[in-house]
Amino acid sequence: MTTDPESLIESFRSAGQGQVFAFYEKLAPDARSRLLAEAAEIDLAEIDRLVRTLVRAGGSPAVDVDGLAPAPYERLPGHGGDASAWSAAKAAGDAALRAGRVAAFTVAGGQGTRLGYDGPKGTFEVTPVRHHSLFRVFTEKILAAGLRYGRPLHWFIMTSHQNHEATEAYFRENLHFGMDPARIHFFRQGRMPAVDFSGKILLETQGSLALSPDGHGGSLRALERSGALDLMASEGIDTLSYFQVDNPLVRCVDPAFLGWHLARRSEMSSKMVPKGYPEEKLGHFCVREGRLVVIEYSDLPMALQRETDPLTGGLRYEAGSIAIHAIDREFVRRMARGDGGLPFHRADKKITTVDSEGREVRPAKANGVKFELFVFDALPSAGNPVVVETARADDFSPVKNAEGVDSPATCRDDQLRQFTRWLRRAGAAVPAGASGLPGFPLEVSPLFGYDEDSFMESWSRMSPKPAIAGGLVLESSK
Ligand code: UTP
Repeated sequence: MTTDPESLIESFRSAGQGQVFAFYEKLAPDARSRLLAEAAEIDLAEIDRLVRTLVRAGGSPAVDVDGLAPAPYERLPGHGGDASAWSAAKAAGDAALRAGRVAAFTVAGGQGTRLGYDGPKGTFEVTPVRHHSLFRVFTEKILAAGLRYGRPLHWFIMTSHQNHEATEAYFRENLHFGMDPARIHFFRQGRMPAVDFSGKILLETQGSLALSPDGHGGSLRALERSGALDLMASEGIDTLSYFQVDNPLVRCVDPAFLGWHLARRSEMSSKMVPKGYPEEKLGHFCVREGRLVVIEYSDLPMALQRETDPLTGGLRYEAGSIAIHAIDREFVRRMARGDGGLPFHRADKKITTVDSEGREVRPAKANGVKFELFVFDALPSAGNPVVVETARADDFSPVKNAEGVDSPATCRDDQLRQFTRWLRRAGAAVPAGASGLPGFPLEVSPLFGYDEDSFMESWSRMSPKPAIAGGLVLESSK
């Protein structure tokens, strides 16, 4: 795209997007330059195509469920899986971690509107006793895993234009929670303009476009563009362990999962949990024309979501996606460079904008469309994708909403249950009711145990054992 102001403005006019410059003449010189710089980022041909296919056509095309089948997955040993295959996978994952082939990767560019928290979501405090933030929990898990494998890990964190500076400042002010800053790599994801229902690009103010992050699927092209893939290659890293910023239970690097991924020569692998109930809002792993796909809960007809398997009596489409993936570095590069790339999805949203006089408008209902990429749309392009079962209690309790399901309260309880379970398996007497919750708050630092194995190792070394009481915090064993 040209940077010459006249021709840039003219290209918008001829694309029917001249409204972007409606207040241009009134702007101060530096505000004009900022608007021009934002406009120069826009791929007008791409916007035109999205408006034709997603906005004017009245929504994303209906998902074709013909020929759809539930995806097969590797079952946990306790759920019919082969215990020796799981041990082999774990050994392969352990070896890859010891060899430094794996980096952690967090997508943290979302806007977190449902939680309604002001600030990067990773800075939200989640742990039950010490109120540590999501970012601190992940840092300590990644640090602890690096110590355990004798190979400090690299951690890639994708931010957005909105939260990049605040995220970096948060880590700086907290001295990176003890992790070597040279191993934490922040990079911004791309952004997309929002349009109104007639396809016109919206202004957020007289001098700025309504821009928003391009979805977690934007991570693939952002990894390539930022140079992260080249850095990985120079460090001998070939596998990304992908997780979301809102889920403190996640095993940031899980050797068994990574081992399945590597042993199968998979380009992109995914964890699944059996859906708790038919209406649960998880994407579904399915197969269509021999390709692995994720069909969102809003796109799979409810009749199919409720269908049961006559043999097991369980849900037929039971494999729910929890947004944890292992991804091959060169697959990311191929996807980022490939023609077409991932498809955009349409999301109707309330978008703050300006009226024809330039006054701010905060709409009460959706007034426009945002375009987003989803990372799981890469799965159909991946060679040998594997879906691997995990226990929800070991990997998944996201903080999405301020209240109710997937809220800070449910996440706190799930952490308490996990700590209680580990302690009880280690033989400690923790009073707990039928809900699995302990009678009092307690907390296990990831530096003491970031998964069940590392917890057991630290616990067995610990002498004397601590008294189990309210407010107990198990700190680093070092
Ligand atoms: P969500 O789908 O929960 O979206 O993101 P969100 O924007 O964080 O929250 P709401 O919908 O506004 O309440 C799932 C994960 O994907 C990341 C988020 O940071 C989170 O880790 N994400 C989402 C990005 O990194 N970039 C995006 O553009 C969108």
